[in-house]
Amino acid sequence: MVCFNWVSLSFVMLFMVGLVSSAKFEELYQPSWAFDHLTTEGEILRMKLDHLSGTGFQSKSKYMFGKVTVQIKLVEGDSAGTVTAFYMSSDGPTHNEFDFEFLGNTTGEPYTVQTNVYVNGVGNREQRLKLWFDPSKDFHSYSIMWNQRQVVFLVDETPVRVHSNLEHRGIPYPKDQPMGVYSSIWNADDWATQGGLVKTDWSHAPFVASYKGFEINGCACPATVASAENTRRCSSNGQKKYWWDEPVMSELNVHQSHQLIWVRANHMVYDYCTDTARFPVAPVECQHHQHKTNHN
Ligand SMILES: *[C@@H]1O[C@H](CO)[C@@H](O)[C@H](O)[C@H]1NC(C)=O
Repeated sequence: MVCFNWVSLSFVMLFMVGLVSSAKFEELYQPSWAFDHLTTEGEILRMKLDHLSGTGFQSKSKYMFGKVTVQIKLVEGDSAGTVTAFYMSSDGPTHNEFDFEFLGNTTGEPYTVQTNVYVNGVGNREQRLKLWFDPSKDFHSYSIMWNQRQVVFLVDETPVRVHSNLEHRGIPYPKDQPMGVYSSIWNADDWATQGGLVKTDWSHAPFVASYKGFEINGCACPATVASAENTRRCSSNGQKKYWWDEPVMSELNVHQSHQLIWVRANHMVYDYCTDTARFPVAPVECQHHQHKTNHN
């Protein structure tokens, strides 16, 4: 009798754990296209790229501010030509976008992580990193934290990029459009690996990226609600205070600033801010970043 109860109890608990972890993806996200290339196995979601198609998923809601996190284990072995992306984006011709793009490589060669920020439809703010670990060996967490003061890109909670609000200098900052959360995998062998020189080797397909640990801690904006109303709902005011509007969230703390300096010194391989061939005059926000770094 005792044994029977224990078995049924553990069965129920297992069932509930299964529900919680696998329902998490479905709670927050839905497939975007090529549904048959996206499979779940327990808490793990796998996205597959083959010669027929890539695939992707998107959040069911849009958000204004907060933090989104996923844990990703990137395509193992030969991933040359593939790009896996995790990003936030608003809609329309003047959209804003915060991107993580993982550019695959041949077996044994390092991935490149490219980040970019679009403001009012304009990007061209690429930075590139080589990570301090092999992102295809294990799951690592990738987060985007967004508030009215800054957009912070984090890898395993280490900040790798900050895009600050410099509106006081007349520089537009993305803070008025709700953003969806997206991920996709696709073939980009026209540009991704060694500038497009290395092509995708389809004999190594399918290329599989695995995901788990889906978290969104933000203010959801229902599509049915007018945008002014969403802006009001998602701003802290006298009654409610969102965690991302706390003063400590308005800039990196000292420890995080040091982490970012370490990342930039040891792992950054490209920064649009220092690409004088592309931008003979450094973009305005770069002049400020430079200034700020020098003073730290
Ligand atoms: C791939 O590996 C080569 C050789 O190590 C490196 O130059 C390149 O930056 C790596 N990444 C990409 C995306 O090409």
